[in-house]
Amino acid sequence: MAIILFFVIILTVIFLIHRSTYRRRYKLPPGSLGLPFIGETIQLISAYKTDNPEPFIDKRMNRYGPIFTTHVFGEPTVFSADPETNRFILMNEGKLFECSYPGSISNLLGKHSLLLMKGALHKRMHSLTMSFANSSIIKDHLLLDIDRLIRLNLDSWSDRVLLMEEAKKITFELTVKQLMSFDPGEWSESLRKEYVLVIEGFFTLPLPILSGTYSRAIKARTKVAEALTLIVRQRRKESVMVEKKNDMLGALLASGDHFSDEQIVDFMLALLVAGYETTSTIMTFAVKFLTENPLALAQLKEEHDQIIAKKSCREEPLEWTDYKSMAFTQCVVNETLRMANIIGGIFRRAMTDINIKGYTIPKGWKVFASFRAVHLNPDHFKDARTFNPWRWQRKPEATSPPNVYTPFGGGPRLCPGYELARVVLSVFLHRFVTRYSWFPAEEDKLVFFPTTRTQKRYPIIVKPRVEPKSCN
Ligand code: HEM
Ligand SMILES: *[C@@H]1O[C@H](CO)[C@@H](O)[C@H](O)[C@H]1NC(C)=O
Ligand SMILES: *[C@@H]1O[C@H](CO)[C@@H](O)[C@H](O)[C@H]1NC(C)=O
Repeated sequence: MAIILFFVIILTVIFLIHRSTYRRRYKLPPGSLGLPFIGETIQLISAYKTDNPEPFIDKRMNRYGPIFTTHVFGEPTVFSADPETNRFILMNEGKLFECSYPGSISNLLGKHSLLLMKGALHKRMHSLTMSFANSSIIKDHLLLDIDRLIRLNLDSWSDRVLLMEEAKKITFELTVKQLMSFDPGEWSESLRKEYVLVIEGFFTLPLPILSGTYSRAIKARTKVAEALTLIVRQRRKESVMVEKKNDMLGALLASGDHFSDEQIVDFMLALLVAGYETTSTIMTFAVKFLTENPLALAQLKEEHDQIIAKKSCREEPLEWTDYKSMAFTQCVVNETLRMANIIGGIFRRAMTDINIKGYTIPKGWKVFASFRAVHLNPDHFKDARTFNPWRWQRKPEATSPPNVYTPFGGGPRLCPGYELARVVLSVFLHRFVTRYSWFPAEEDKLVFFPTTRTQKRYPIIVKPRVEPKSCN
């Protein structure tokens, strides 16, 4: 016991000396590094037990301003809630900052994941990914399937559904379809079961020996990768004889880059990971916000009823012009992403000493660019903590500089799925509000930590709306 105490004291002294030399050498942003080793991690975690979405940052912003130093999850970290600084961080990705994930997450992603790639290879793969999901591809190929699969999913609803679960199912089925042209069925559902275990691994403590969840996630990852590898091999064989399939896997196989099976599998997994929780939570939150704002819901319904009114019957496919006519829906999409994006911000690591706004961020330190703190700051958005889709009809917000509103990040790592996610959410809202009326089955509330979600996966009771224009 005494010997442990001795070591703790020695280490603390070393830590404090080390810290004060840092302070002298650099002009660090103001703030506190908290306790030795633990830093302010405990404050961070306990702060989020309240209803306030940004308690940890709010408190420090009031004391130190929008750029401050803290120490969380074992590392000194500079937090930014300043739009200009956030933009600087995003735009200098690969030059002054690089993304950095803990090893436990890298293992789940796979070493060829787009999220982990750097340099020229990242640039190439990022633009390839962008071209898989750009607006002309969505318009010409993806929209039809998005609409069809969403309708198919809504057909299967009983009167009580867990909205978050259905949204996840839809999102997964859509991604599988877009990646490799598989319609939903037993295969995709059993893949999803494994896949859910992989996702759980992302949110667990990165201690492989201690965590059963984590080792289960690694096992599930292997299974998912095996299933995908089989598909890739099969498609390689087919591609010589059978006509080419018009999907992302087809484009990867046809590209001149000669990707290995492993590269392709890691790439597909990255898309599944990046689009899954993000898109499905935003679908759920949009419905929740609309449920709580009858005026907004009424206006949204009117917009979508008008689209249906132009069709010969309800099941007629949506077209690109229909999507483009959903003006108020786009306001709802933006406002939902502003209020409750699951991606609250991004971590990076400083590749060199970086001077910004009169401070130095030392080489090797972590930075966290908080998007949420900007999105919820009344200096940038009036009545920032109220859901108000109409704000997007006013000039200032709609034309606000791109660094203030960044739900999809920016710079070299701008989300390649940003348009796809908007289309999926819009089509989902269209089919949902024209088909059903609903009310919450239970009280359910938003929580922001450790991830942004609703506590009970948003259970609702749905009733088909009386709809004269059903196709027979
Ligand atoms: C509401 C839905 C979504 C949100 C809010 C969102 C947000 C983001 C953000 C903020 C980033 C930047 C991360 C960083 O800079 O480190 C990102 C990256 C990424 N997103 Fe999305 N995303 C969404 C949907 C999707 C979808 C549907 C896809 C599938 C195509 C996707 C694929 C990706 C990929 C592959 C990256 C990594 C890009 C890179 O590191 O170069 N996302 N997303
Ligand atoms: C979208 O990507 C395709 C290739 O996949 C490309 O031919 C097309 O020009 C791109 N369109 C836009 C609007 O960038
Ligand atoms: C929604 O936000 C995007 C930026 O992500 C912006 O380009 C667009 O104009 C906004 N839409 C509306 C209706 O304000």
